[in-house]
Amino acid sequence: MPQNAFHPGRPWLDLDGEPINAHGGGVLFHGGQYYWYGEARPRGPSNQDARIGVSCYRSEDLYHWKSLGIALKVVEDESHPLVSGCKIERPKVIYNAKTGKFVMWWHHDRKGWGHAGALAGVAVSDSPQGPFTFVEVLQPNGRMFRDCTVFMDVDGAAYLVFASDANANLVFCRLDDTFTKPTGIQCTQFHGRYMEAPCVFHHEGRYYFLGSDCTGWAPNEARSAVAPALFADWKELGNPCLGEGSETTFGAQSTFVLPVAGKPGRFIFMADRWVPEDLAASTYVWLPIEFRKVPGREAPRPFIRWADSWSL
Ligand code: DGJ
Repeated sequence: MPQNAFHPGRPWLDLDGEPINAHGGGVLFHGGQYYWYGEARPRGPSNQDARIGVSCYRSEDLYHWKSLGIALKVVEDESHPLVSGCKIERPKVIYNAKTGKFVMWWHHDRKGWGHAGALAGVAVSDSPQGPFTFVEVLQPNGRMFRDCTVFMDVDGAAYLVFASDANANLVFCRLDDTFTKPTGIQCTQFHGRYMEAPCVFHHEGRYYFLGSDCTGWAPNEARSAVAPALFADWKELGNPCLGEGSETTFGAQSTFVLPVAGKPGRFIFMADRWVPEDLAASTYVWLPIEFRKVPGREAPRPFIRWADSWSL
């Protein structure tokens, strides 16, 4: 296998030779390094509850990842929201230059509640690899909070984007200046479209959305959309995937769109190929995003096609 290449859907080992354990994750670029955060899942069955926490890996080139350990750990204290057995899903981290803090958000559910509580979790750290200190769990402006991402806009403002209203709608909610609290500035989008796995990115003056349908751990057809501003009306652009496997997002579900540092216009679509009976065995599908003008449409459309292996 070529060293400097991505091999979507195949086992991916870290620099210690262990399978990378960072599911439903996202990547932060900071200080010339990439940091990949994700759900650390124990091996074996019945691991749909958080038993470890959120892992962190570091890379300079996006191909080779060093494990930095667990950035946010579950605890044994039954009275604490982070007690082992709670749910910690889809963690995302952003850096706040004003406070010098790294801020993690995730979908949280209390132990024994399944996904019924629909909470957001927030934690902060002075360094990218943690340890992150738990701040609180909450429902932003009283809204249910499930699949989520955090997006930093070109003007430095940050937004939570999350599945709400029993997954029927997506909410965009601006964070305060510390990125640790929601403000009341929010809008509801994609009414009744049951979008999960939201990803937001900015390209050539437009905002793009990639996400999924809502079918549990089973893969489904991906969604894409474009808007001139985050709070404008989003226009759906259909399934961005092309070719064989496109109707199931190549057996995977989106988790993040990663802008490649120093390469404007290059984005990596990050997705999870879930193995629900053994979530730790889930693999990663990373593919390049292409943009193409489509007749009759002003904005270029994002497309994703399968590659057995590929390089930047
Ligand atoms: C789909 C979500 O995208 C996942 O993060 C997880 O919550 C599963 N549903 C659970 O069924």
